[in-house]
Amino acid sequence: MFGRFSIDAARYEFDKRLNWRIINTMTDNFSQLIDRFGRRVTYVRMSITDRCDFRCVYCMDEEMHFMPRERLLTLEEIVFLLRAFCELGVEKLRITGGEPLVRRNVDWLIEQVGALKRSTALKELNLTTNGSQLPKYAKKLAAAGMDRVNISLDSLKKDRFRELTRTGELTQVLAGIGAAKQAGFKRIKLNTVIMKGRNDDEIIDLAEFAIDNDLDISYIEEMPLGHVSHSRSESFCSSDFVLAALQNRFDLQSSIVNTGGPSRYYQITGSSSKIGFISPHSHNFCDSCNRVRVTTEGRLLLCLGQEHSMDLRAIIRQYPGDINMLKQAIIESMNIKPKGHDFDIKAQPVIFRHMSVTGG
Ligand code: GTP
Ligand code: 5AD
Ligand code: SF4
Repeated sequence: MFGRFSIDAARYEFDKRLNWRIINTMTDNFSQLIDRFGRRVTYVRMSITDRCDFRCVYCMDEEMHFMPRERLLTLEEIVFLLRAFCELGVEKLRITGGEPLVRRNVDWLIEQVGALKRSTALKELNLTTNGSQLPKYAKKLAAAGMDRVNISLDSLKKDRFRELTRTGELTQVLAGIGAAKQAGFKRIKLNTVIMKGRNDDEIIDLAEFAIDNDLDISYIEEMPLGHVSHSRSESFCSSDFVLAALQNRFDLQSSIVNTGGPSRYYQITGSSSKIGFISPHSHNFCDSCNRVRVTTEGRLLLCLGQEHSMDLRAIIRQYPGDINMLKQAIIESMNIKPKGHDFDIKAQPVIFRHMSVTGG
């Protein structure tokens, strides 16, 4: 077992043991990824850039420093990495950022990853985006095999949208949502982070917008990732508050739908839209965690709210083209997947990386 601050040690230990293990155990391409708590990992969230054309107040600080380009995985390395995961039995991939659609040649990447659905366990390829680039990309993404798209939307008021995103243009995002609808993705979901005193008066309006446009919507509790310029404990708004506000206006039926993500869903009576709640504080979902994340620089993060990680870029670059070596590292990483996060909205952030590094 590896302690919280000895992850690199874990990697070196792993390197030492690798050669004989690979010969003895790595003949089965379809091994399952199972952690120490018996949780099966079937879902990978891949961040392809930490850059973004927005600066949402809960996600980024006013001044951000982005990763130097030479530290990023190349697109070819990302495809290689994702192939390894899918050959290990991963069924669901989500491409995240920063804003994934600002990465150059992202359409090439999606085509390559989309093709994995024909040759591996992969069943679902999804994207989380701020929507600004969807007018340009939506059709191409759908054609390349993208299944579902989640789009952030925190306000329907032009000035407030600009205030919350610091640089964003509401009309551009609404055009993006329109383009996504036209492109024919399986289901489109809005993501809304509700903040007290900032946009909590739009809970109903945003739900109505989702209903009118045949979209789903998830309300997300703000998470304390990285330093930002407001007090997170003051802006925190719990899912229970949001649910109560919605129940005053709509008839909501608790739904058994599970997308494999952390949302608890409700069906709105008389509508095809679902309302989801992502509540890491008030309804922790770590026990059923099925996912891992990979950062832009190829760091495999075993939990959004902890630092346990493995440097997959080092392995890819040390053993170029050796997919078995990479798969073995991924299997080993299951030993350091922690039980859960320790988010505390009232304390100083203990996780210094911003959400834009992991894509949520
Ligand atoms: P689907 O359920 O597949 O639609 O995706 P999702 O809602 O999980 O993905 P999305 O990228 O849209 O993320 C929405 C919010 O959920 C973001 O704020 C993520 O940070 C959060 N989220 C996703 N997975 C986890 C997780 O494992 N732990 C925590 N705490 N938050 C998560
Ligand atoms: N807490 C909660 N959600 C966040 N997001 C970004 N930063 C945070 C945070 N600190 C959301 C975005 C996007 C999704 C990937 O994560 O709104 O929809
Ligand atoms: Fe960009 Fe998404 Fe972060 Fe907003 S939440 S700054 S859109 S990465």
